[in-house]
Amino acid sequence: MTHVDMLKSQYEAFPYPTNTSSNGGYRELVNLVKLLRLDCGYHLKGKRILDAGTGTGLRLLELAAAFPDNEYVGIDYSENSIACAERAREAFPGAPVSFRVGDIMAADLQGGPFDVILCMGVLHHLQRPAEAIDRLSRLLTTTGVLIFYVYGEYGSGERMRRKRLLSHLHGDELGQKIESAKHLGFTDFPYGWAIQDPTDVDPMIVDAYVNHYEVLYTLETIGKLVSNSLAACVPYGFTLERNGLLVESRLNARFAMPVARTDPKSKLNSPALEEAYAKLPKRQQLLVLEDMYAPAGYTMLAHNGGFLGEISRPERLTSNAWQ
Ligand SMILES: C[S@@+](CC[C@H](N)C(=O)[O-])C[C@H]1O[C@@H](n2cnc3c(N)ncnc32)[C@H](O)[C@@H]1O
Repeated sequence: MTHVDMLKSQYEAFPYPTNTSSNGGYRELVNLVKLLRLDCGYHLKGKRILDAGTGTGLRLLELAAAFPDNEYVGIDYSENSIACAERAREAFPGAPVSFRVGDIMAADLQGGPFDVILCMGVLHHLQRPAEAIDRLSRLLTTTGVLIFYVYGEYGSGERMRRKRLLSHLHGDELGQKIESAKHLGFTDFPYGWAIQDPTDVDPMIVDAYVNHYEVLYTLETIGKLVSNSLAACVPYGFTLERNGLLVESRLNARFAMPVARTDPKSKLNSPALEEAYAKLPKRQQLLVLEDMYAPAGYTMLAHNGGFLGEISRPERLTSNAWQ
């Protein structure tokens, strides 16, 4: 079996995320879109949205319920995940979402153009992620945006340690790894979710600690994924072990929103260091921030320039652009 086949059968057996009432819903996409509105003045209305690698679609359904004046499409190559998504939809009557089985890497990926393409937690599992970004970028409108989330190398040390430990113990024995993860207490997931329903734990363990194929990223390697396909690439959020931060690289940015963000000024904590930081080119400033915060994940926005015309406050995005 190839890595690709193993990963697919893993998500067939353990569709992700599971449907639980105990975690208060999967609100991450809703929160992200609310942030984009508050922070940049982007309004999700009258848009077509693709969620590429939607899994069980729970995050997309929450988004569609919160912002119903749009058209949503969720695709995943796992038939079982899409079947779960169809069942989950019953709890969201009238949500404007359609789900279908589809492979991001398929030559005939169709259905565009889309104003927003989401690809959250998927690219780091692909063997040819730059090709995936290229395929997805061809489905974007000229004013569209690709929003993706990938794991970060610098903040994944503890998760990787646990993952290695399970591999040393049990090789590829999935069932044994899951049981041992429970014995070892690897059930405090690094996403800040309190999972109470025991049936929800196994897919979380599989995703976090048993995954067959994942690559960890840095700003440098993320930039290389995007550079051939889209003109601009901006780190929007850093995920840390237990929380998320908006990325702010400016030293004296005015920031009215009560949202946690990276803060180079408070970290540098000295006029001489601030001066040195202020003289750095933008990419270098972002690299300093990256090492200050050591993200476990990156939420990125990538676009072809037209997207900036869709938002009323582009300053933070333009000032934080990696590319
Ligand atoms: C970690 S889950 C993320 C699910 C969802 N995006 C979320 O954030 O909750 C990764 C998903 O990507 C899907 N996936 C991986 N490779 C894919 C591909 N080539 N085409 C479509 N889906 C894929 C898997 O089946 C799985 O459901």
